[in-house]
Amino acid sequence: MSRPLLTVILAAGKGTRMRSARPKVLHRIAGRSMLAHVLALAGDAGADRLAVVVAPGMDAVREEALATAPKAAVFAQEAQLGTADAVLAARAAIAAHTGDLIVLFADTPLITAATIGRLRAELDRGAAVAVLGFEAQDPGSYGRLVTDEDGALVAIREARDASPAELRIRLCNSGVMAFRVDDPLAVLGRIGNANAKGEFYLTDAIEIVRAEGGRAGVVVCEEDEVLGVNAKGELAQAEAVWQRRARVRAMAAGVTLIAPETVWLSFDTVLGEDVLIEPNVFFGPRVTVGDGAEIKANSYLEGARVGPGARVGPFARLRPGAVLGRDVHVGNFVEVKNVAMGEGAKANHLSYLGDGSIGARANIGAGTIFCNYDGFFKHKTEIGEGAFVGSNAALVAPVRIGAGAYVGSGSVITRDVAADALALERSAQDERPGWAQKFRAAMARRKAARTA
Ligand code: UD1
Ligand code: CA
Repeated sequence: MSRPLLTVILAAGKGTRMRSARPKVLHRIAGRSMLAHVLALAGDAGADRLAVVVAPGMDAVREEALATAPKAAVFAQEAQLGTADAVLAARAAIAAHTGDLIVLFADTPLITAATIGRLRAELDRGAAVAVLGFEAQDPGSYGRLVTDEDGALVAIREARDASPAELRIRLCNSGVMAFRVDDPLAVLGRIGNANAKGEFYLTDAIEIVRAEGGRAGVVVCEEDEVLGVNAKGELAQAEAVWQRRARVRAMAAGVTLIAPETVWLSFDTVLGEDVLIEPNVFFGPRVTVGDGAEIKANSYLEGARVGPGARVGPFARLRPGAVLGRDVHVGNFVEVKNVAMGEGAKANHLSYLGDGSIGARANIGAGTIFCNYDGFFKHKTEIGEGAFVGSNAALVAPVRIGAGAYVGSGSVITRDVAADALALERSAQDERPGWAQKFRAAMARRKAARTA
């Protein structure tokens, strides 16, 4: 019964209360902009066509929309005259579409595709317009859903225009609305602006549709889902809701979180079965962790792939391009960037490994540094399989350490080392037998002479 769906996403509001140079809908939740979250939601909910309404000059918002959903049509709303006017900015997309229409707000990023599915089902049951409502803890400035004695939705009243009796209603408008009408543009065109704000309210569509004999339906969801972000405090609240959900999903998929509330996931984090994550771990975007791997406490990962059975941390930092093979160990205070580590390779303590590759089963000693930058260019360090790099070695890239080679501790390696060779770069040890004993005796005599 479902018909083709056009989703219009409103993103033209200025978002003054964010007090930010960045447009409101580009603020991120779980590493992705609110706008991208809502575009993804529209896709998951089965939108066949997407339109995004931005304010003139919001080039960054336009770019984000197109980067996330290349097929989206982006429209500019010349002046912010209200939510109905904003939908009308997408007039061309609406005129070209035959089917259902759903309006979403880009600053309301936590709605689930299942909830949008319930709205569409309400259209399938014969509603001409369906509103997503919720029971508000504090109805405040939300629009109120006004129902008749049979519980049917008759109007949405904005708080500023509501009577004292209407203000006592706790069932509120989330802003999400779905339409199945022959001519949505005609409905929108009949909305006026005779109200407290002098704005064209999308919510007035309810009364217009009903006057034409259409039914208005309500679908109710949890308040958490329709949290609207207007200020930084609400952004943090939305982040908290998102994280709670993501942790529950991860655990349901077989991930062990010892202290779930201290683990921060990204919108695209992929965690395998039996992954163990200790407390205080942060995942930036683009991290994949294979089955059975352990991420120990206080580690920070972004843009990294961790192979099955690998062990990372405590206190490890994996940066973009870190690719850890099966059973790799990366220990405390080790930073890995743009380096592939082969199966079973180990770097257990205090190292910077940037740009290059480490062969399977190679061992990188404590304090090893890949000197990858000469102030102008980045260079690569390549370490062969089974090589052993002693502690506190500086490997000055570009440089290659052959398979099975040894690098002596404390060496500064500037030239390639052949497979199975030992490279040592430090002065020969000079030892003076009995020196310490003589030194102590001489100092004792000097001290005695002074105090005499
Ligand atoms: C709106 C609803 C209200 C609902 C509330 C839920 C109307 C008239 N009111 O009120 O019933 O309870 O959301 O949060 O719809 N926008 C534009 N262009 C405009 C005006 C708004 O693009 O000219 C966009 C904003 O960027 C935002 C959304 O529409 O994403 C909502 O606008 P906002 O002004 O925040 O509406 P509310 O007053 O919160
Ligand atoms: Ca709002």
